[in-house]
Amino acid sequence: MLMLKEHFRANDMGHLVVGKLDAVDLAKTFGTPLYVMDEQRIREKYRNFHRAFSSLWRNLLVCYALKANSNLAIVKILQNEGSGADVSSENELRIALGAGISGKRIVFNGNYKTRRELELAIANDVLINVDNFQELEAVDRIASHMDKRARVGFRVNPDVRAPTHPYIATGLRESKFGFDVASGQALKAYERAAKMKDVEVVGIHAHIGSQILDAAPYEEEAEKLMALVAEVKEKLDISISHVDLGGGIGIPYKPGEKELQPEMVAERVVSVVRRFVKEHGLEEPVLVFEPGRYLVADAGILLARVGYIKERLGMPTWISVDAGMNALIRPALYGAYHHIELANKLDQKNDVVVNVAGPLCESGDFLGKGRKLPRAEQGDLAVIFDVGAYGIVMSSQHTAQPRPAMVLVNGDKAEIIRRRETFEDLTRLDRVPGWLE
Ligand SMILES: Cc1ncc(COP(=O)(O)O)c(C=O)c1O
Repeated sequence: MLMLKEHFRANDMGHLVVGKLDAVDLAKTFGTPLYVMDEQRIREKYRNFHRAFSSLWRNLLVCYALKANSNLAIVKILQNEGSGADVSSENELRIALGAGISGKRIVFNGNYKTRRELELAIANDVLINVDNFQELEAVDRIASHMDKRARVGFRVNPDVRAPTHPYIATGLRESKFGFDVASGQALKAYERAAKMKDVEVVGIHAHIGSQILDAAPYEEEAEKLMALVAEVKEKLDISISHVDLGGGIGIPYKPGEKELQPEMVAERVVSVVRRFVKEHGLEEPVLVFEPGRYLVADAGILLARVGYIKERLGMPTWISVDAGMNALIRPALYGAYHHIELANKLDQKNDVVVNVAGPLCESGDFLGKGRKLPRAEQGDLAVIFDVGAYGIVMSSQHTAQPRPAMVLVNGDKAEIIRRRETFEDLTRLDRVPGWLE
């Protein structure tokens, strides 16, 4: 079945069009495998997301989750739209600061933050979402050495079950993240922080998982976070000013999957927050969200050249393309579905059942199985959709494959935003000890 999202179309040659450019020409100009990102689509998604919440709530901070795609140009587009950043490593923090996002609009998450990372965060007034008691002690100690006050929130584990892949469900009680709410551990964290001289308690944070297509878990999350905000106010007289619900809004990857409109999440979350503010006399908090996938996933495609076609009697035909799990690991890692078409044959019937394989020596190296495509020939151009998030950032050099290039399209303009790796890039860090020479 031909499935094109609203921001793509086919031209009269049956070729895929990205922005105003023919994907076949892009592949010819820049080579394959090639990631292509559509700037206008990212801007549109950011505006949708922002509007959905800002139309219901005044104090809003949208922090783009750099882990989805930390390319400098992509981060710059989002900075340009007014986004803050959610970072989870020193380098993501440096990228966000370098793009011109002020530290005050950055949140730092993760369950293992190094001393260097904490120093850089504290120096830039980044909001650190502390994950455990030892980290809290470290933050206080480092801030005191630096003669600064650290802005902190606590990552709490609200035990919300979000319907998604187990690897990306992060809000369950057994998960590695955050302070447990049910046992009172989270409240204790606020109590301890309140006694610390160099820690300013600012926020509460949770992230219940990724690729969520249902608004209900967000409502449950908001209930649990706001109940804790009220308890912290009542028992410790601490006003939590930043309520951070994390990211996780999914996108439809498969034909028939329904989009989760941010408006649906906004309505449910904001009504919970309003009720708590009113019933407990709380100050109106800044609502923080950390969308990654929602903003960039469907702006990205991967173009891969069809090399070889192998027929198997009574079984799907194997099509080998020049991008595999090295370029896009999600199908191999999570069994994730990415829609595939032939970008140069959108006007033909998809009537051959195929498996699409990458070039690596692993049976797990496939991009899709049991798909229907037009009859493929050598030199055709496969397009893998929805790869703008968790695509290039999770790519590898397995079998010494260079990572693909990435191009940004804006209307009729296209420019490289990450050049293709070369043999020199692949071997640059290796050393042969003298005794082997
Ligand atoms: C703390 C945190 N925030 C935000 C995100 C972004 O999630 P998504 O890309 O699903 O919106 C993640 C993803 O793992 C995360 O761990």
